[in-house]
Amino acid sequence: MKIFLSIVFLIGLEYAACDTPVNCTYEDIRGEWNFYEGPRTVDKSYDCSTFTNFTTYFKVKLLFPNTAIDQDGNTGYWTLIYNQGFEVVIAGRKYFAFSYFQQNKDKITSLCKHTFVNSSHDIGVDAKNWSCFAGWKNDEPDYSTPSEKHSLKKPILGLNLLYRPNFDFIERINQKQKSWQATHYKFLEKMTIKEIVRMSGGEKSRSFVKPKPARVTPEIDMMAKELPKSFDWRNVDGINYVSPIRNQQSCGSCYAFGSLAMHEARLRIKSNNTLQTIFSTQDIVECSRYSQGCDGGFPYLVAGKYAEDYGIVEESCNPYKGVDGACHTNPKCKRNYATNYRYVGGFYGACNEALMRINLVKNGPIAVSFEVYNDFLNYQGGIYHHTGESDHVNFGFNPFEITNHVVLIVGYGSENGQDYWIVKNSWGTGWGENGFFRIRRGTDECSIESIAVESDIIV
Ligand SMILES: *[C@@H]1O[C@H](CO)[C@@H](O)[C@H](O)[C@H]1NC(C)=O
Ligand SMILES: *[C@@H]1O[C@H](CO)[C@@H](O)[C@H](O)[C@H]1NC(C)=O
Ligand SMILES: *[C@@H]1O[C@H](CO)[C@@H](O)[C@H](O)[C@H]1NC(C)=O
Ligand SMILES: *[C@@H]1O[C@H](CO)[C@@H](O)[C@H](O)[C@H]1NC(C)=O
Ligand SMILES: *[C@@H]1O[C@H](CO)[C@@H](O)[C@H](O)[C@H]1NC(C)=O
Repeated sequence: MKIFLSIVFLIGLEYAACDTPVNCTYEDIRGEWNFYEGPRTVDKSYDCSTFTNFTTYFKVKLLFPNTAIDQDGNTGYWTLIYNQGFEVVIAGRKYFAFSYFQQNKDKITSLCKHTFVNSSHDIGVDAKNWSCFAGWKNDEPDYSTPSEKHSLKKPILGLNLLYRPNFDFIERINQKQKSWQATHYKFLEKMTIKEIVRMSGGEKSRSFVKPKPARVTPEIDMMAKELPKSFDWRNVDGINYVSPIRNQQSCGSCYAFGSLAMHEARLRIKSNNTLQTIFSTQDIVECSRYSQGCDGGFPYLVAGKYAEDYGIVEESCNPYKGVDGACHTNPKCKRNYATNYRYVGGFYGACNEALMRINLVKNGPIAVSFEVYNDFLNYQGGIYHHTGESDHVNFGFNPFEITNHVVLIVGYGSENGQDYWIVKNSWGTGWGENGFFRIRRGTDECSIESIAVESDIIV
């Protein structure tokens, strides 16, 4: 940000009276642009130069000689302004921006595929409804040197963008493979990209290296071969031991939901379904020192260490709000403990698919982390695997680096020769297969077989 601010300062000082040192041509500007726009509520005197709170996004094609077409099919016109920038008039509004450049000592680099953050407003004299906007021509930034990357990225990217339906992306997924189906979810449209990243595990969960599944020893292989071909804790001889699907909303609390769902199911299993407690995820979000509230956490420390050291409480002791805050758990509430927390296999790096099935059948559902790519958000049903497709409309400029989401494995099976896990998610019953999903098994899909965790609830 510092670098960017200093550039703005320089422009202000040196170029405000004349032209900017940028030098962009008609051909540099002609083509398809992505416009990022903030709320249309700023005063015309508002200085957009440090604005980052973009809330909408749309595409505009600037065609030869001067036609503009936006993604909703509106047509308008555009013009280059000398070699300095451009103005587009479309859908009742004007969008003007100077082209972006960077100055390093005396060297000027024009980055014509980008604009500064300038303004947009209604058409007419003394126009209303001003907003800040910026344009990017390509999904990928156009840096000239690595050091420029920093200053270019900052002013443009805003995670406050609202999610937009991307039917083209959904169609690409569905065309590419038949193993699972993608759909658009209306609830995502009410969320910002930032909230969706949180819901998928949170930014802080991104950067850790997952171990490869451990080798399956002959003894383990023998034990796994004894297991039923398919198994589902939602239906063991007609009895369901899995507690109802919940919704974490936009808080990055998946680890709390996954962890407590494991204890809920295991409590049902141990008590022959006589104890159907729902545990408080808000207690974890607000009160656990072993995790980061709505910014994420890990099941080893929550289902495991927190449940052993502090215990967990019933939902009614601190009902879910999905926001961070001071600890509001009623201190009079009974605390339930769990013990013997461990990675499946005994330690970090010892997990594999066979051990997971053995422990699942023997002890009950197990908490796992796996990598969420953006195609997973659109999962409707079938056996998920990452398709390699990416949702550029929503995540193109903020490459949706994979996040680590925590969920609960409740069973396994095979369909048409494809082995799968049955997994409980915490995105409500309207998502996936009534709140559950199935994912490829035996291939460490999205690292789901690398770090499973379990712990034993004390009845
Ligand atoms: C701007 O770029 C054009 C084409 O690349 C070049 O011909 C022209 O001399 C440049 N003008 C300035 C002022 O640098
Ligand atoms: C456009 O953005 C540049 C860089 O932030 C700024 O110097 C300039 O004043 C802005 N112009 C308008 C008209 O908003
Ligand atoms: C960003 O814009 C949204 C929508 O107008 C608004 O609710 C939010 O408060 C803004 N955030 C900042 C930091 O300005
Ligand atoms: C545009 O401005 C007018 C007048 O200030 C206001 O009544 C209207 O709500 C604004 N429209 C939008 C979309 O912000
Ligand atoms: C478990 O519950 C079922 C259904 O209520 C009952 O039929 C069965 O006898 C119970 N088993 C034990 C060991 O209590």
